[in-house]
Amino acid sequence: MFGLLKMPRRGAFPLWTLVVLLGLTFVPLQLAGCLLDPCLEVIPNITFRCTGLNISGVPTQVPNTTQNLDLSFSHLKSLSSNYFSSVHELQLLDLTRCHIHTIEDNSFKDLYNLSTLILTANYFKYLGPAAFYGLTSLRRLVLVENNISSLTDLPIGHLHTLQELNVGHNNIASLKLPKYFASLTSLRHLSLLSNKITYISRGDLDALREANRFNLTLVLSLNDIKYIQPGSFAKIHLGELALRSSFENFNVMHTSLQGLTGLQVNRLIVGEFSDRQRLKDFQSGLLSGLCQVQMQEFVLICFRAFEDNTDTLFDCIGNVSSIRLVDLQLEEVSKVPMLSQVKHLECKKCKFREVPAMKLSLFKELRVLRITKSKYLNSFRQNFEHLTNLEVVDLSENRLSFTGCCSRLFLGSPNLKYLNLSFNSDISVTGDFTNVKNLLTLDFQHTKLIGPGSYPVFLSLQKLIYLDISYTKTHVKSQCTFCGLHSLQVLKMAGNSFEDNKLANNLKNLTRLHTLDISSCKLLQVDQSTFSALSELKELNISNNKLLSFDPLVYKPLQALTVLDFSHNQLTVLLDSALESVPDSLVSLDLSHNLFDCSCTYLNFLKWVKEKQEILQSKELMVCHIPAYVKNVSLSSFDLSSCQLKTSTMAFSVSVLLAAAVSLFLIYKYYFQLYYSLVLLSGCKHSAERGDTYDAFVIHSSKDQEWVIKELVEPLEGGKPPFQLCLYYRDFLPGVPIVTNIIQEGFLSSRNVIAVISTDFLESKWCSFEFDIAQSWQLVEGRAGIIMIVLEDVDKALLRQKLGLSRYLRRNTYLEWKNREISRHIFWRQLTGALLVGKKMNHEEVKLM
Ligand SMILES: *[C@@H]1O[C@H](CO)[C@@H](O)[C@H](O)[C@H]1NC(C)=O
Ligand SMILES: *[C@@H]1O[C@H](CO)[C@@H](O)[C@H](O)[C@H]1NC(C)=O
Ligand SMILES: *[C@@H]1O[C@H](CO)[C@@H](O)[C@H](O)[C@H]1NC(C)=O
Ligand SMILES: *[C@@H]1O[C@H](CO)[C@@H](O)[C@H](O)[C@H]1NC(C)=O
Ligand SMILES: *[C@@H]1O[C@H](CO)[C@@H](O)[C@H](O)[C@H]1NC(C)=O
Ligand SMILES: *[C@@H]1O[C@H](CO)[C@@H](O)[C@H](O)[C@H]1NC(C)=O
Ligand SMILES: *[C@@H]1O[C@H](CO)[C@@H](O)[C@H](O)[C@H]1NC(C)=O
Ligand SMILES: *[C@@H]1O[C@H](CO)[C@@H](O)[C@H](O)[C@H]1NC(C)=O
Ligand SMILES: *[C@@H]1O[C@H](CO)[C@@H](O)[C@H](O)[C@H]1NC(C)=O
Ligand SMILES: *[C@@H]1O[C@H](CO)[C@@H](O)[C@H](O)[C@H]1NC(C)=O
Ligand SMILES: *[C@@H]1O[C@H](CO)[C@@H](O)[C@H](O)[C@H]1NC(C)=O
Repeated sequence: MFGLLKMPRRGAFPLWTLVVLLGLTFVPLQLAGCLLDPCLEVIPNITFRCTGLNISGVPTQVPNTTQNLDLSFSHLKSLSSNYFSSVHELQLLDLTRCHIHTIEDNSFKDLYNLSTLILTANYFKYLGPAAFYGLTSLRRLVLVENNISSLTDLPIGHLHTLQELNVGHNNIASLKLPKYFASLTSLRHLSLLSNKITYISRGDLDALREANRFNLTLVLSLNDIKYIQPGSFAKIHLGELALRSSFENFNVMHTSLQGLTGLQVNRLIVGEFSDRQRLKDFQSGLLSGLCQVQMQEFVLICFRAFEDNTDTLFDCIGNVSSIRLVDLQLEEVSKVPMLSQVKHLECKKCKFREVPAMKLSLFKELRVLRITKSKYLNSFRQNFEHLTNLEVVDLSENRLSFTGCCSRLFLGSPNLKYLNLSFNSDISVTGDFTNVKNLLTLDFQHTKLIGPGSYPVFLSLQKLIYLDISYTKTHVKSQCTFCGLHSLQVLKMAGNSFEDNKLANNLKNLTRLHTLDISSCKLLQVDQSTFSALSELKELNISNNKLLSFDPLVYKPLQALTVLDFSHNQLTVLLDSALESVPDSLVSLDLSHNLFDCSCTYLNFLKWVKEKQEILQSKELMVCHIPAYVKNVSLSSFDLSSCQLKTSTMAFSVSVLLAAAVSLFLIYKYYFQLYYSLVLLSGCKHSAERGDTYDAFVIHSSKDQEWVIKELVEPLEGGKPPFQLCLYYRDFLPGVPIVTNIIQEGFLSSRNVIAVISTDFLESKWCSFEFDIAQSWQLVEGRAGIIMIVLEDVDKALLRQKLGLSRYLRRNTYLEWKNREISRHIFWRQLTGALLVGKKMNHEEVKLM
């Protein structure tokens, strides 16, 4: 909206008009498609933009709460009484280019709160004498480009609150201020930019004189002033007078400035616009009229060729307290008058090639010196001498390249407190600051420095509070780089480097520091004791480095920290100990652009991020880097519940794995048993079909084989009835695994098992195994078929312990072999009895019995 208010300069005018005309052509077309809702609600209920409408009256969708209304480029044509009564809370009304030719009385009635009214580019044919009635709060009235030819006819005399009246780009030919100006008691700014004023006469400004008004800014630039009658400005006190591109040539300007005699003004701006150069040269004596003008500040702007005629520049402005020379092709400082009173001197975009220290030293009262943005300025060889009041020197944004900074350059300037040498080429710093040891602020940023980092160059700057050596290509090697800076509160050294990319003991004595910027320093590591002295530090910027971790011990001493920028590093996580050491005082923490690991292992950190939302900056840029499936997910929106889910699945898989391991172990350990069970189960199915081949399977130790053959096999197989025994050495099938044999040939094909238990049997693993299988088989098949023959020499205690015999005694046959005749007889009867149980006998056998 306000963009439209920018005064176009004369030269740019046709182009500007063209753009606006083009805009006018296109606006209705663009809006044709959305005519249903032509108003844009910029701030709900408060600000509405309804541009380019063909309407009369305020659009109905604009509510009575509206404070800012933009109706520019609409076809309002004529404003009638109470036109804006539906929006009487308006504070700003923009009616730019609304084709308004008539404003009737009381059109703005009741807009008590309207403070800004913009009527740019309407060509009034009729303005009612009470057109602006009711605007009791109006502060700013913009009547730019309204084809106004005289201030006299403007019905604005009652606007006592008016502070700014802009009647630029009209056809006003006279500066004669109508009487009503005496009653515009609040007026501070009157712009008559780009009008048709040619002559300024005595009496034109009488209205100001009568009102005894001070501090008005009067803009007369871009008029074509041919003459100012001396006395026109006498006894007038202005805040500012701007006369840029107002004169046709040197002579006109020279004589016109004479006409300013008697003016008192805070700031006088004389010169050109860079695109509206009318005067070619600055000639000797041009400003001689200013000797009769009292001013605090003089601004000379946009003058090109100074050539050799510069010597009189300061003649009449040598006692002005503040001089700004802007965009001048001034190559040398003009002659400085004796006893000059200039306190502030600024040369911006001048053409000096060398800091004119010698000549400037003649401004004995100089307090502030600024020479900036001068692209030819590269040399600084002369010294400033005896400027005892000099406090501020700003030489930033030039192309300076020099050595021997800084003591020798400022002889006898003990009050220098501020030195800005930033944005220059290169400076070699010697470490001698004795002449300027009271410096409080020193800025070298973006200037290549030679010295700092290798030597303790700042030793004598014990009062320095502010040091900026950012981007100075400083490589900090010396531990004592910052030694001596006992008062330093702000240290900015972004964009430099440290030895081994490590921050070690370099900051040890900076106990007063409250702001430290070590961003973009390629840091890989920060030593534990680095910050130990920085208990007052409030702001730390350690962003844009390559730090992998946030070591709690490093940051522990920073108990006063309020702002920490740790963005653009390579942090993966803050561990629990780090989270604890994050200072409680923090109000701003930036951890964006790190390489966060969002594995659920770090659930604590992820939870912490959720809790700290109000202090975390750029939260949406704190994103997961790994694992891949959550890459780019913002930590703030990370779904913690997905982690809980994962812990349960994790627990599940862990138990599955454990079970598997246990099973494998068991399988390994009980391989035989399992194998047996398998065979057994397969055997079970067929047990009905299975014919019992043997009466008994004999398990025994191979050492008892002789006994078995002599005392068991021969009597049983040869006896009546004959029993068929299964003996592993005789009946097992060759080529079949022994276990299979034991099971299939031994157990499954026999009705009974005879265990010949001897000391050897008890000691043999195989025998124990076979016996175990026999027991399980017995359990499975449900037979009471184990016949134990315990030989004489067996230790009974060992027997009980090894075989747990007592458990089986009740169900099994327990026989003891004794070598006595009578015992044998009983033994045989019991053995054959047990073997006979369930024996299917054929005919012959029955007969034999
Ligand atoms: C705007 O005004 C309407 C009606 O007066 C009201 O309902 C609504 O809440 C207001 N909106 C805002 C953001 O104030
Ligand atoms: C505006 O509307 C009137 C009728 O309401 C019409 O005659 C006129 O041509 C329109 N003007 C433009 C610029 O659309
Ligand atoms: C604004 O308009 C609403 C109806 O839209 C009305 O109720 C309210 O009284 C009006 N406010 C004022 C101050 O006129
Ligand atoms: C003007 O604004 C003030 C607050 O700034 C408000 O109290 C008053 O009601 C407004 N007057 C009108 C007529 O809207
Ligand atoms: C501007 O005013 C002059 C008379 O002062 C008149 O001749 C001219 O037509 C007007 N221009 C416009 C665009 O209304
Ligand atoms: C004069 O006006 C300027 C702004 O236009 C303001 O900063 C300054 O304080 C004013 N001085 C006096 C004495 O009113
Ligand atoms: C400037 O001031 C000094 C001392 O106050 C005086 O001698 C000198 O004449 C003045 N110069 C001008 C141009 O007013
Ligand atoms: C020094 O000058 C530069 C460039 O004008 C500016 O950005 C910077 O803020 C100044 N330094 C200080 C400490 O004022
Ligand atoms: C640190 O400062 C103390 C005084 O504050 C001083 O005595 C000491 O020499 C300094 N140490 C270094 C290495 O600058
Ligand atoms: C830290 O420094 C970087 C540049 O090095 C800058 O972009 C950022 O804004 C700084 N952070 C703070 C909190 O000032
Ligand atoms: C993550 O974001 C970066 C930059 O926005 C983009 O280049 C990259 O492809 C994204 N990766 C994934 C996995 O979305």
